[in-house]
Amino acid sequence: MAKISFPKGFLWGASTAAYQIEGAIEADGRGPCVWDSFTAAGRIQDGSSAAVACDHYHRWPEDIALMRQAGFNTYRFSIAWPRVLPTGTGAVNDKGLDYYDRLVDGLLAAGIRPMACLYHWDLPQPLEDKGGWQGREIVGPFADYARVVTARLADRVKHWMMLNEPNVVAIFGYGVGDHAPGHKLGEVGILKALHHQNLAQGAALRAIDAEHSGLTLGTVINLQPCRAESDKPEDVAAAARWDAVWNRVPLDGLLRGQIPPLLAEKMRDIVKVGDEVAIRFPIELLGINYYSRMTMKYETGHPFDVWWGDAHCDRWTFMGWPVQPDGLYDLLVEFKRDYGNPAVFIAENGAAYDDKVEADGQIHDVDRVAFLRDHLQAVGRAAAEGCNVKGYLCWSLLDNFEWAFGLSKRFGIVRVDYDTLQRTPKDSYRFFSEVVKTGQV
Ligand code: BGC
Repeated sequence: MAKISFPKGFLWGASTAAYQIEGAIEADGRGPCVWDSFTAAGRIQDGSSAAVACDHYHRWPEDIALMRQAGFNTYRFSIAWPRVLPTGTGAVNDKGLDYYDRLVDGLLAAGIRPMACLYHWDLPQPLEDKGGWQGREIVGPFADYARVVTARLADRVKHWMMLNEPNVVAIFGYGVGDHAPGHKLGEVGILKALHHQNLAQGAALRAIDAEHSGLTLGTVINLQPCRAESDKPEDVAAAARWDAVWNRVPLDGLLRGQIPPLLAEKMRDIVKVGDEVAIRFPIELLGINYYSRMTMKYETGHPFDVWWGDAHCDRWTFMGWPVQPDGLYDLLVEFKRDYGNPAVFIAENGAAYDDKVEADGQIHDVDRVAFLRDHLQAVGRAAAEGCNVKGYLCWSLLDNFEWAFGLSKRFGIVRVDYDTLQRTPKDSYRFFSEVVKTGQV
């Protein structure tokens, strides 16, 4: 296949999340978050915790050096709400902000553009105790937190993402309980958590916009094209319902100020007068996370009577997720068609594989190299057809704490030995670095 070239000025780099890499969960006055409680309750499959994780809190200079060597021009990280506001509201913990100051200055010194995400799932526990994303009382505290963080960092951080994957928080955290805070509240719990994140996001965007200029504001949603397992009417209807919950509530809320018609009835008691205006905001840049398509089928006993069907795929990752690079191409083309081609970037894309350290001490992760290559080509094809794609950040720089799977699933292009915390770049790091440096795949 002929090489595909990416435009000059393309954002190249990696994404990470505070809770997954920082460790140091008790350092410098950080407060507890829902994932600390979920871990303490024994909910992490391999029994591990994020207490140390990659110890990025102390080892960030080494990690920035790895990014610089790879040629990255952008790095998306998240800010830990409980480091900045240990109880979620009220007293600001300056030491928490000092840490992000150091990180941001280190990135800028290395020529890497910092992109901060305000919420990658580490909700302060005291806020969860008051109802968390189930109540609209959380909207004010989130906007206040956004104000506090940007007051300190927006002189140097110009790219701000509000939320990461509100659908995952709502469905897995509040709907089925596989993620913190572990509630099984079903459909209503999911729709409340989605809508209140939309409201909080709108309030934070307005708060930041009122106090700063010259920033690029956005958010990150994992859009996954939903397909029906079969052409049976009940499967087709199930996939459409899932598309409404997974993709359209976050997307149409933000970009159109709309509740998807399919969910209007179920959301009637959740949405108040004026909410449609409050959730809409003209962002400059949308982050899209993509891992695979979703093949859905009708099945009772689950929220919305939908469940995952057979993806009919012959390539799978170590997460048991199908490898479907065409889905990323379809997603970008369909997004352009449906939403008028606003600027987007790939904020996460990557794969877990069962990496082995070979006799030569290296990790020859051929599957991950193929995964990245195929998805980069899909992005390149979509861009060549006019999709307004501004960048590609892989998930992830480092092996890290993969939420309920703990340390057992490795997504990094750099291996982390969790005993010694030694970093070893994998073959995929070298492959990706070559793409970044040449702008071609
Ligand atoms: C999340 C990451 C996670 C990755 C792989 C995304 O849903 O944003 O935090 O590690 O997928 O599961």
